[in-house]
Amino acid sequence: MSNAIDGQQFRQLMGRYPTGVAIIAAQDANGKLHGLTVGSFTSISLEPCLVGFFPGVNSASWNAMQDVTRFSVSVLSADQEAICGAFARSGEDKFANVGYTLSELGNPLIDDAVLWIECDRHSVIEAGDHLLVMGEVQRIAGGPAQQPMIFCQGGYPQLNIGS
Ligand SMILES: Cc1cc2nc3c(=O)[nH]c(=O)nc-3n(C[C@H](O)[C@H](O)[C@H](O)COP(=O)(O)O)c2cc1C
Repeated sequence: MSNAIDGQQFRQLMGRYPTGVAIIAAQDANGKLHGLTVGSFTSISLEPCLVGFFPGVNSASWNAMQDVTRFSVSVLSADQEAICGAFARSGEDKFANVGYTLSELGNPLIDDAVLWIECDRHSVIEAGDHLLVMGEVQRIAGGPAQQPMIFCQGGYPQLNIGS
């Protein structure tokens, strides 16, 4: 175990920790849609139901969303790598070639995901070069897909649940 942490080594070794992949999305006051891919989505609290994710402070999409009061989380399925990539590229119209539905609450939900969660923004806490954004869950529903996307060591290993 080395004491002086090299950023690249930290990132590379942390890549051994497998995560799910989710799209955080919202509609701003002008009706414009914004979204980004995150591997840092997590459940936080049961009472109240809180979830969270960690956007980078320089994320253009998060900066465009920071005045929204609600957002959605679409947990991607194993066969949605194209959507994962589309929402990970800065500066593009990320929704251009993606199937989504606007919920009654006005949140964009990615079609054919594993899970959809709609949140009211609860709090934003500084955390180094990222932020911890917490949301209070208003709605949650399972999607049609069963196999979640996994991100590990820079790739997308298959999980094969229920096979
Ligand atoms: C699998 C995967 C997981 C990612 N996880 C995060 C994350 O947790 N937090 C984050 O800020 N960026 C994460 N990113 C990178 C962002 O998706 C990317 O920087 C962002 O979409 C760039 O666009 P923006 O500048 O419009 O935000 C991840 C990318 C991928 C492919």
